[in-house]
Amino acid sequence: MTTSLTPDTNQLRKVSSLPTELALRRAAAFLAHLVKDPDFVGSWILPFLEGASHAQDWYVAHRLDADDGSFSLQVFVWPPGTRTKIHDHSSWGAYCCAAGTVLEERYERLDDGARPEHARLKQAWRLRWSREDGASTVLPGDGGIHRVGNPGEGPAISVHLYGPRMGEVDGRDYDPSRDHVCDRKEV
Ligand SMILES: [Fe+2]
Repeated sequence: MTTSLTPDTNQLRKVSSLPTELALRRAAAFLAHLVKDPDFVGSWILPFLEGASHAQDWYVAHRLDADDGSFSLQVFVWPPGTRTKIHDHSSWGAYCCAAGTVLEERYERLDDGARPEHARLKQAWRLRWSREDGASTVLPGDGGIHRVGNPGEGPAISVHLYGPRMGEVDGRDYDPSRDHVCDRKEV
């Protein structure tokens, strides 16, 4: 799959150089605007909608990574009934739904992180996000423990922007059924 239009990488680089709180505000505004841009939708969203109904699991259909690792813009495809594990990221992140609706569950940590591979979680909120709702944002690490999925009948697509990583790993995966957390292995 090829896309003809590339978002403004200079703007993305500028956003990713800002302090986290400011970067997240700018990233949210950038994404909310981007998913309403007809050129972007035509080349980055619509080509992936058809496949979104047939796949078994969610996947990243397209991504634009900065050479220096300062940002990563990714298009996530959510077939009906798919969802991520509960996870966090080693960077800040923002995402905006571009088609359909996604459901996000956000979690808080109840333990102090002192025990290796141990994490006790409590669900903080659940929200449905559509294009008109703007972007959801996560802080790195414990400030952004969440799960995103598509419990609906139709496909959904969301566009995610991640800032520079604070560590070597991409993030962590959580299993609250056994109070477990581990570094995510990249595929
Ligand atoms: Fe995430």
